[in-house]
Amino acid sequence: MTFGQLKTFLEVVRHGSIRAAAASLLVTEPSVSAGVASLQRELGVALVERQGRGIRVTPAGQEFAGYASQILGLYDKAARRAREKAGQTAELRLSAVTTAGESLMAPILKLFRQGEPGVELWMEVGNLQGVFDSLLSYQVDLGIGGRPPDNGEIAGDPFLDNRLVVVASPEHHLAGAGPFEAALLSKETWLLREGGSGTRNNTEEFFAESNIDAPPFMTLGSNGAVKQAASAGLGVTLISTHAVAAELESGTLVRLDVAGTPLVRSWHVLYRSQTDHSPSAEAFLELLRSLNTREAVDRWFGASRQFLS
Ligand code: PGA
Repeated sequence: MTFGQLKTFLEVVRHGSIRAAAASLLVTEPSVSAGVASLQRELGVALVERQGRGIRVTPAGQEFAGYASQILGLYDKAARRAREKAGQTAELRLSAVTTAGESLMAPILKLFRQGEPGVELWMEVGNLQGVFDSLLSYQVDLGIGGRPPDNGEIAGDPFLDNRLVVVASPEHHLAGAGPFEAALLSKETWLLREGGSGTRNNTEEFFAESNIDAPPFMTLGSNGAVKQAASAGLGVTLISTHAVAAELESGTLVRLDVAGTPLVRSWHVLYRSQTDHSPSAEAFLELLRSLNTREAVDRWFGASRQFLS
């Protein structure tokens, strides 16, 4: 077994096709097939099987893929730790949920950079489930997102309030209305983030608490798309104030005065339970524990910080 074969196999799993894996790895199809065949021989298990004119990853292959990505991630982490210990490059790999990555992390990264100019920063942005997956497969050192899952595999420390509010276009018929029950919005079209996102989870909890049962909805895969759709009058949405402070300030979106909102949650820094943190990850955690972070975030939002509460 070589790391190259593991990488090849994971590309096949990701794309569900030998051809697409070869294109993404910039190698020939026969070399991808040979890599997978050699892994299968060594394991004595079929990882892929023919299906029509393509292939399908077998259940055994799916099982193996989870471990393969952990092996590669752990190797990568070991290499980074060794380089850091030897006084070579220190790198901090982060995975942030969309809302935090797009709307909150810049002032925090700036502060970190000021304190630790020698640490190379790498941050991926995805949804909450993606952050959990990256942590569990050792692809990243720390995650930023909503609360950790209940299964105990990932721990999290809260570092900042995250308030979610219902917003709509300024032309919405309830814009400017006094406090009203959420049930009044049960016939509205709700603009929902994709499954796996923390915002979607929060919205589903809000529906359950507010007795909003199966409202009309539209699923949009990013906060940007949700905000545009809301300001175009396509529907209403529950979203973090960090994501909409600028739009609330400029007036392209308005907050609806819905009872039970803002929903107050916390931003967490997330990590694998029982992780022994690298010095740069420890420095990042220390930064988030310090009061400076909150002040820096407030300063970053400038005049629109009034819309965060
Ligand atoms: P999201 O995460 O950007 O994936 O919706 C937000 C959260 O975790 O609260």
